[in-house]
Amino acid sequence: MATKVTKIGVLTSGGDSPGMNAAIRAVVRTGIYHKMEVFGVFRGYSGLIDNDIQPMQSRSVANIIQRGGTILKTARCPEFYTPEGRKKAYDNLTRHGINGLVVIGGDGSFKGAQIFSQEYDIPCIGLPGTIDKDIAGTDFTIGFDTAVNTAVEAIDKIRDTMDAHDRLFIVEVMGRDAGYIALHSGIATGAETILIPEAKTTVEDLIGNLTEKEKRKKLVNLVVVAEGDDFGGGNEVGKLVKANLPNADVRVCILGHIQRGGSPTCLDRLIASRMGYHAVECLMEGRHNVMVGIVNNRMHYTPLTLAIKAKEKFNNEWLKIVRILAS
Ligand code: ADP
Ligand code: F6P
Repeated sequence: MATKVTKIGVLTSGGDSPGMNAAIRAVVRTGIYHKMEVFGVFRGYSGLIDNDIQPMQSRSVANIIQRGGTILKTARCPEFYTPEGRKKAYDNLTRHGINGLVVIGGDGSFKGAQIFSQEYDIPCIGLPGTIDKDIAGTDFTIGFDTAVNTAVEAIDKIRDTMDAHDRLFIVEVMGRDAGYIALHSGIATGAETILIPEAKTTVEDLIGNLTEKEKRKKLVNLVVVAEGDDFGGGNEVGKLVKANLPNADVRVCILGHIQRGGSPTCLDRLIASRMGYHAVECLMEGRHNVMVGIVNNRMHYTPLTLAIKAKEKFNNEWLKIVRILAS
């Protein structure tokens, strides 16, 4: 029979994403509603190891639902990769009597949670917090919608200059291993070409496509590139295009970390609130080591191991849509 979870810790780990605060608020207030004690762990797994753990009250999470970043701060913690580091983390949790953990982060953070809960019998619930949307078992991750809307807003502005000067713009968006920000923002801004890690594009395809547009006097062209694309990101694509299309007026813009910040959209606040609430419900129900996701607008629980391993099947039709609509 599983031990009743009475004291829970909540932490944010890995890259921050807009909506993490809304998720923290939901965990803290749902925990308090269920008469649990709730502790905030600062700077991800580093806070567990350094005992940077503070009790949270309902007021601790007031006025944060609209704020980007994370009030608990986040970190990448090399020490948590070691058994010694994880032992320190467990000792600190035991000191506070914490017997359930909510980890808000990406797949790296889930790997850490999975290993930790295997070594020590402590239930961990994962909430997908990453702008990259590269986690299986959920239609959305906390922060993706905000990031992609930030990218769209920025590209719309770039399009004004692109149009005024008849320029060819290469815009790099975030996504080290995943092209979802590029794909969604590229379609929404009418990109001619989208370059992403999930789909191989040859130099011939890229240049051939742009040359054909040039021949038709279509001089305003937008290429959206995910930073992790095979070509090596926006600057590399820029060099390649300049070398092959000497008549084109080419500019490169790297959007960078503006995509990680800012006030979360309504959708991110909503999914973060629902997921945070259900994370606590999971702990109440005695669930172990699952990620709380949303699929077809319903809560969906995926074992952490699968959320990490499985990659969503890439839908090639989206790239076909790009080609047809950008003609
Ligand atoms: P994200 O969660 O955004 O994918 P990272 O991959 O940087 O970010 O992972 C965040 C943290 O999770 C790491 O700094 C480390 O503390 C922990 N972590 C990641 N992978 C492991 C692992 N295999 N074993 C233990 N801890 C891990
Ligand atoms: O995982 C989110 C992400 O924004 C990636 O798209 C990007 O490559 C990475 O984080 C950058 O992380 P940082 O600047 O924190 O090292």
